[in-house]
Amino acid sequence: MTLKSVACIDDLRRIAHRKVPRDFMDYYESGSYSEATLASNRHDLAQIKIRQHVLAGASNRELSQSLLGEKITLPFALGPIGMTGMAHRDGEIAAARAAERAGIPYTLSTMSICSIEDVAAAVEKPFWFQLYFMKDRGFVSDLITRARAAKCSALVLTVDLQVLGQRHRDVRNGLFVPPRVRLGTIAHLLSKPAWIAGVLLGKRKTFGNLHGRIAGTEHLRSYMEWIHSQFDQTLHWDDVAWVREQWPGKLILKGILDVNDARQAVKTGASAIVVSNHGGRQLDGAPSAISMLPRIADAVGSDIEILFDSGIRSGQDVFRALALGARACLLGRAYLYGVCAAGEAGASKAIDIIAKELDVTMALAGVQTIGSITRDCVVADH
Ligand code: FNR
Repeated sequence: MTLKSVACIDDLRRIAHRKVPRDFMDYYESGSYSEATLASNRHDLAQIKIRQHVLAGASNRELSQSLLGEKITLPFALGPIGMTGMAHRDGEIAAARAAERAGIPYTLSTMSICSIEDVAAAVEKPFWFQLYFMKDRGFVSDLITRARAAKCSALVLTVDLQVLGQRHRDVRNGLFVPPRVRLGTIAHLLSKPAWIAGVLLGKRKTFGNLHGRIAGTEHLRSYMEWIHSQFDQTLHWDDVAWVREQWPGKLILKGILDVNDARQAVKTGASAIVVSNHGGRQLDGAPSAISMLPRIADAVGSDIEILFDSGIRSGQDVFRALALGARACLLGRAYLYGVCAAGEAGASKAIDIIAKELDVTMALAGVQTIGSITRDCVVADH
């Protein structure tokens, strides 16, 4: 299958599995523990029925949205995905360029392969930077300074990873960067020549934002050890105030799944929250993100902007989330599959697929603007 004949995100996913070594696809695809929350994200989204409205004169549809005081051409952005640069050479730059061309924000992860500076040099418009709060406050402070110097337009503070949910396949694979080539995997790797040429023989193979900044981490394995030692279980709402002092710009809190936490988030003065369960990678047994969205929207929707992620794989899914109270969505694996499949062109394809699906869904549901996608547009129960 070539990119031309790709019809949906699942097609990109199939190509991704053909192109990228299994250990990395396992890392991208997995959820934590039993993967119950991962499964319910998809299941619950698919359960939401969209109301069909005919003869509604829904031509001239407009998909743009205002988010954080700016106009974006589509009601979604690309979310932060660690190690996108192991999916394709310079994967983060590829995704950032695709987002820039589409007129939507790109979020660079702290755990990216390309650094903040690499991405800033490759795009013209500002991107967002996602921050993991670590024990080493000096390092966190330095990251914020770098994001400001790179003119990032928003800081996305991820608050649901104070400890790592275990992904069984990563434990079994012994995943670290670059891939440890075990005898059993050599034959498998040889079936991915384009990946070997692009990623393994490329110049960026480790965590770009950490490289050269952490004392005693010359060896790649020691980066992983450092990261694992840095998750901070003492994290508290007061720490958000500390971040706010260092970053007076737009702040987005990512990983809110509870109504009380959403209320607390409003008090921090953040500009937006992301209703998310980290794509089913953290608290296994947590509810699907979409099932919590309407309650959170009811509680705080008029006080703070609400973004949504976890399970979006189509324009119909974006429509569902907007109907249930999100102002915009973050794509996760949906665009990552595109990067795996074909770098920048693949990420663009993913954005294009979802935009077109959303457009047709709006036409068939009889709505012309993003603002008119309301709860009435889906069948009740939510
Ligand atoms: C993530 N996610 C994530 N979130 C974050 O804040 N920082 C990060 O570095 C990462 N890294 C990461 C890697 C991989 C492989 C995945 C799949 C996810 C979570 C991500 O931003 C988003 O919340 C989920 O991907 C949304 O779920 P779906 O749409 O992928 O199901």
